[in-house]
Amino acid sequence: MTVRATALVAPAITRLIMLAALGAGVPASAADAPASAYPLGAASFQANCVVCHGPAGAGLPGLAPPLSYPARYAASSEGRRQLAMTVLYGMIGDISVGDKHFNFQMPDFARLDDATLAATLNYVVFDLDHASTDLKPITADEIATERAHPLDGAAVHEHRKSVAPSGP
Ligand code: HEC
Repeated sequence: MTVRATALVAPAITRLIMLAALGAGVPASAADAPASAYPLGAASFQANCVVCHGPAGAGLPGLAPPLSYPARYAASSEGRRQLAMTVLYGMIGDISVGDKHFNFQMPDFARLDDATLAATLNYVVFDLDHASTDLKPITADEIATERAHPLDGAAVHEHRKSVAPSGP
């Protein structure tokens, strides 16, 4: 192989390796089943949420609840508000999930834009929780509506009582 040919082939190989590395998150065509219907949400979840809720949303005992039930919230308008508020403003105060208690602080993610927060919640609801596709995806507008009414994490905890009165 001449030097010239090597110079042409090497960058092509580098590109292939890079594409293979990206392949998991970015399907090249419809034939490659997408890993997520919400790739932006999946990426945001990996970057912002897994440290506490775990890569598949299973939670961490004593630290953060599993995220295997918020799909239920997405079925009611107050529940959808609750999801938006939780990511925008965080949550503080004791919650029960089944027979487990969590009482640690969920940080706020108001620094992320509306579309990113909506996609992150849709990733949780539809990909991690396998919610029925009859449910409407959460929109950036729904996030924007809650962003217009700033709350603190204690108020988010208080509102949760109206959507999960006896704990999920
Ligand atoms: C520092 C750890 C931490 C991080 C990071 C974190 N959470 Fe949480 N999350 C918690 C804790 C703790 C709670 C429960 C709060 C409480 O006890 O009041 C919670 C609660 C929640 C709830 C509400 C559950 C319920 O029953 O009402 C949702 C939804 C949620 N988190 C989603 C997310 C998403 C999405 C992200 C990423 C954008 C995220 N969390 C990042 C710790 C975290």
